[in-house]
Amino acid sequence: SKKAFIFDLDGVVVDTAKFHFVAWQRLAVSLGINFTEEENEQLKGVSRVRSLEKILKWGNKEIDQKTFEEKLIQKNEEYLEMVETLTQEDILPGVHDFLLRLRESEQPIALGSASKNARPILKKLGIYDLFDAIVDGTDVSKAKPDPEVFLNACQLLNMPAKNAVVFEDSIAGVQAANNAGMISIGLGDQKNLSEADEVFESFLEMPTDYQHQLLNKTK
Ligand code: G6P
Ligand code: MG
Repeated sequence: SKKAFIFDLDGVVVDTAKFHFVAWQRLAVSLGINFTEEENEQLKGVSRVRSLEKILKWGNKEIDQKTFEEKLIQKNEEYLEMVETLTQEDILPGVHDFLLRLRESEQPIALGSASKNARPILKKLGIYDLFDAIVDGTDVSKAKPDPEVFLNACQLLNMPAKNAVVFEDSIAGVQAANNAGMISIGLGDQKNLSEADEVFESFLEMPTDYQHQLLNKTK
């Protein structure tokens, strides 16, 4: 049977989560705020604007609208400088092969990301054409854990939500998938992603028979 396979981008398809972290950390330091790795987990999957709001709240800091916007521009410029260094080597282990296997078996594939940089990053990595549908931060108004991004992806693939499998590295993203009634698969640390239906350290650790089972699984 067919499933909709929906991939988050940062931290699932490509190793850019570390770039976001570095750029947010610099921004926070420039405001005299220090935030922890634990807090950073809560920024994963969260839009640019919402992320800065959270950092300011944690740091008990208020800035005017103009500074807010300038800080976001600067954060993105620094992030994009790091993105410039990306090559195919930065595609996370096992992802490329898994995508190719899905295509071979004609499974519908979508990207569901909060990032406004998703399309250029996929193009830079040469994997843009592997996706049948792309929904990113330029397409949605409600941020994860709202299910909008994944529901839109399903709609574009013409598949019901209950037949969707979502791959996520973020707490907010796992919650968004669960809120959409989709199977949620966490990539990363079990202790952060305990709300996911299943967690693997990477795609390399996902057993072949589990991949086959996925095709028949519903929530
Ligand atoms: C993803 C990442 C977040 C990032 C957000 C917005 O969800 O996990 O760390 O802040 O996208 O990305 P953007 O590239 O638009 O700043
Ligand atoms: Mg992510």
